[in-house]
Amino acid sequence: MSKKIIVANWKAAVASLAEAQDILNFVDEYLKSIPMNSPLQIIFCPPFVFTEEVAKILREGKLTSYCALGAQDIAVSDVGAQTGEVSGDMLSKLGVEYVIAGHSERRWKMGESDTDVNQKIKTALSHNLVPIVCLGEKDQNKDREKFLTNQTEETFKDLSAQDTARCMIAYEPVWAISTNPDAEPDTPESAAGAIEIIKKVLAARHPQLVDNRFLYGGSVNSINAATFTGGPSIHGLMVGSASVKKDEFIRILGAR
Ligand code: PGA
Repeated sequence: MSKKIIVANWKAAVASLAEAQDILNFVDEYLKSIPMNSPLQIIFCPPFVFTEEVAKILREGKLTSYCALGAQDIAVSDVGAQTGEVSGDMLSKLGVEYVIAGHSERRWKMGESDTDVNQKIKTALSHNLVPIVCLGEKDQNKDREKFLTNQTEETFKDLSAQDTARCMIAYEPVWAISTNPDAEPDTPESAAGAIEIIKKVLAARHPQLVDNRFLYGGSVNSINAATFTGGPSIHGLMVGSASVKKDEFIRILGAR
């Protein structure tokens, strides 16, 4: 049975180490209560400033069996003057294994282009970090197929079949992210349709591609979580706001 993957994207919503510790203790207690070797993998992506401490906490208790450390972003390259950036080299030295690349908040609020995201994926892979590549259209009911096709082509440009297969892909329609006014989660059927579009683009380029791991993100909560992961095409969830509400997050982990 393949593991259900839950990415906890804390964004900048965890303000102190004490808060981070509190969430992780709570998750640890939950993990002690489930059957051994449950098919679950949790990837915590804390704000950079807490990375080192979270890495230590994740080596304790049951967290060590089920959890991995991720980062929310990575510098485009390791070389050159880059004020404020955190390099792949630094991340891997801290024990980070996954990195979110091209989150919509970075694409649409911080002006990150497909080319930047493509470069970040390559930099992450060069450090043996697994990129969690975010794709998703900004406007609902506009030409989704055309947008996603183009975004996927540009984001994965020049990546070999092998490198493409190393990426995890999160379909996160921007309009569904909970911090947007009027956000509504996508439906599982529609999200599966979007994933089919992405797969078609990648398969056209690399017919021999092994299946990537696909996630859905956007207003995931304990009520809708299992509806997304119940089908064959979505292997996990990327959770934003609900990942810092410890009771709700535990309910998402247990949702079936
Ligand atoms: P949300 O955020 O779960 O709060 O909608 C998801 C994300 O931005 O990754």
